[in-house]
Amino acid sequence: MNRIDLKDLHIVVTGASRGIGKSLAELLHREGAKVSLMARNEADLTAMTERAGRGMIGHAVDLTDLEGLGAALDMVRGEHGPVDMLINNAGIGFYKPFDEYSTAENQRMVDLNVTAIAELTKLALPDLKRSSVATVVNVASDIGRRPMPNMALYSATKHAVAGLTTSLSMELQPFDVRVLLLNPGLTDSYFGGRSLGDLKPPYALLPEDVADIALFMITRPHHVSIGEVTVNPMQQKK
Ligand SMILES: NC(=O)c1ccc[n+]([C@@H]2O[C@H](COP(=O)([O-])OP(=O)(O)OC[C@H]3O[C@@H](n4cnc5c(N)ncnc54)[C@H](OP(=O)(O)O)[C@@H]3O)[C@@H](O)[C@H]2O)c1
Repeated sequence: MNRIDLKDLHIVVTGASRGIGKSLAELLHREGAKVSLMARNEADLTAMTERAGRGMIGHAVDLTDLEGLGAALDMVRGEHGPVDMLINNAGIGFYKPFDEYSTAENQRMVDLNVTAIAELTKLALPDLKRSSVATVVNVASDIGRRPMPNMALYSATKHAVAGLTTSLSMELQPFDVRVLLLNPGLTDSYFGGRSLGDLKPPYALLPEDVADIALFMITRPHHVSIGEVTVNPMQQKK
């Protein structure tokens, strides 16, 4: 089959210590990519890299610390070389009435879900513009395309990711950089303070379901740009 071989490509995955990001990072590593993990929890990252062995490194970083993003990228570049693909997956959200959100929670959602994606992508662009398979995947949400009570600002951040992605995909087209949007529906993960196993198919996706779809999107031949995919569990209530 005609697909991009990920072997030895350098792929950075944010939010890679748990949930969707972890599943995807492990899948990409099995495909032979050199995978760089970014998330805050160093112990989780170390457990993953020790299990994986060669070809996977972790860098503990709080992506809302925008000053630290350049150094984080330099560190993983130092180990794995220029970045070929960037998966902006890290994101947070909560479910409660609008007036119960603290200012700090609101700020953190905007900083992580939107600003960190923009800044990290900007920092990776010089590498991406030189890669023959340059691809950015932004993990937004089905709630980035529809309203959701009790998650109003989260929904706004994911709408912002959709706008950022589709605008950037046009802007970077002349540089052959694909910028793709992946909108998962309800997924069994640690999102919003849940524990793994709290949600089950067919009412929720599994992290590996979402990872499989991301793999399909990024391994299409480079002239194929799957601009946006939304995926929901069969029985998700909307
Ligand atoms: N689960 C769902 O139902 C669902 C539905 C639609 C969209 N999504 C989106 O899918 C993406 C992945 O979420 P998930 O469901 O896999 O959630 P998750 O299990 O909670 O994983 C979130 C990941 O983000 C990392 N992270 C959180 N804050 C961070 C920070 N400040 N800096 C760096 N890393 C940070 C976490 O690691 P550390 O805590 O170690 O930093 C973790 O690796 C998110 O963008 C989310 O909005 C999820």
